[in-house]
Amino acid sequence: MNTIQPAVGIDALAFSGPRSYIDMVDLAEARGVDPLKFTQGLGQLQMAVASPCEDTVTMAVQAARAALHNFDIDPADIGTLVVGTETGVDHAKPVAVYVHEHLGLAANCRTFETKHACYGAMAGLTASADWIVSGRARGRKALIIASDIARYGLGSAGEPTQGAGAVAIVVSERPRLFDLALGCVGDYTRQVMDFWRPLYSKVAFADGHYSIDCYLEALSASIADAKAQSTDPESLDSERMAACLYHVPFVKMARKAHLRHLQTDRPGVGDSAFAESYDARVAPWLTLNAQVGNIYTGSLFLALIDFLRRIDTGSEGSEASLFAYGSGCGACFLVGRVSDGAAAWASNLDPAAHLDRRHRLSVDAYEQMTVAAESADANDAPALDPEQWQLGDGLFYLGTRDHKRVYSA
Ligand code: HMG
Repeated sequence: MNTIQPAVGIDALAFSGPRSYIDMVDLAEARGVDPLKFTQGLGQLQMAVASPCEDTVTMAVQAARAALHNFDIDPADIGTLVVGTETGVDHAKPVAVYVHEHLGLAANCRTFETKHACYGAMAGLTASADWIVSGRARGRKALIIASDIARYGLGSAGEPTQGAGAVAIVVSERPRLFDLALGCVGDYTRQVMDFWRPLYSKVAFADGHYSIDCYLEALSASIADAKAQSTDPESLDSERMAACLYHVPFVKMARKAHLRHLQTDRPGVGDSAFAESYDARVAPWLTLNAQVGNIYTGSLFLALIDFLRRIDTGSEGSEASLFAYGSGCGACFLVGRVSDGAAAWASNLDPAAHLDRRHRLSVDAYEQMTVAAESADANDAPALDPEQWQLGDGLFYLGTRDHKRVYSA
């Protein structure tokens, strides 16, 4: 594998998301659309829905607590905290500093937020890996959290590609899950108006079909850049990978991406070779994305969780490629390998129990939640009540008092 010393990679992973979801067939029927368009055309089965009390901070904290607890990591060992998000809760104050307080991290843990649409967490991940490789970490680990709520608006073309959730990723020099090969990372940046959210809007604007073209162009360019940097470009070939993981705004997008990936590696690839490759390297790891929807910057890492939760000892050492795409746009392609001993940790990152506990909403209830969330940031409005949304226990946003966000303990 294209690798560099010292080793660096992913030591812990966890997903946490809203307590509620809607079924895509229910949504299609309510919108007068053939359900097959959403379930097959887009590949989505369910969509996580955030209540007004669940925001980028609460989801990030819950995912991070799970990662630290399930992988037995002492918060005192975290020396960098990055939250990647395009759903910030303040124009100036980073989500990360709220998370820092709730996790009880050290005062000398550097803490910041990254924003570049769905590329934000990957930017934080590679910067954190560089921090470790540089020696500045002095044995400490980095915690990167991707946390977002995807909102396009009721009845919009983007509505079936919404979702919400957070993925927490711990990076260390002794990774237990996934070693990163940082020697040949392919990067790509280009200013395009494919998807954006102006300061005055809670919902995103998208030039949907153009955004798909931008994504695919970024994929080709990122792969070309990675190959140009590699001493052994063939080692990056998709057919060597046990898994090819992509940013997943909707499941069908990963299929389009894999077709482009294969065509980039081997022009003229036939339909049956593509179908075989897709079924083996991509489709099996999209089940969580199909249940959660687009969680923006965490979507790629949700697919990585789906891959890693199924590994056994025979998969250790196998390689996987990761492609991150953030509209606007920024992208990155890199490869890594399943760490030795990773299979022993596979069940620790499985979010199945969390997803099974979710509450199915009617479309009416989803619409009420969405409308209520639009005004959840209003100053000195009546306090938000988690019980109204059947949320149970946990950390919740309770409203804004005297211009300051208030959270439950
Ligand atoms: P649309 O125009 O409503 O849908 O918008 P469509 O007409 O393109 O149909 C979608 C698919 O369903 C097509 O499949 C149809 O054929 C199929 P395809 O041809 O693409 O393979 N279809 C059916 N299949 C079975 N039975 C049927 C049926 N009818 C149609 N009856 C679009 C779709 C994704 C554009 C829209 O939802 C949208 O604008 N979403 C938001 C933008 C987006 O997700 N872009 C993705 C790339 S950009 C990105 O990933 C970045 C992002 O995550 C943001 C960030 O970086 O932060 C978005």
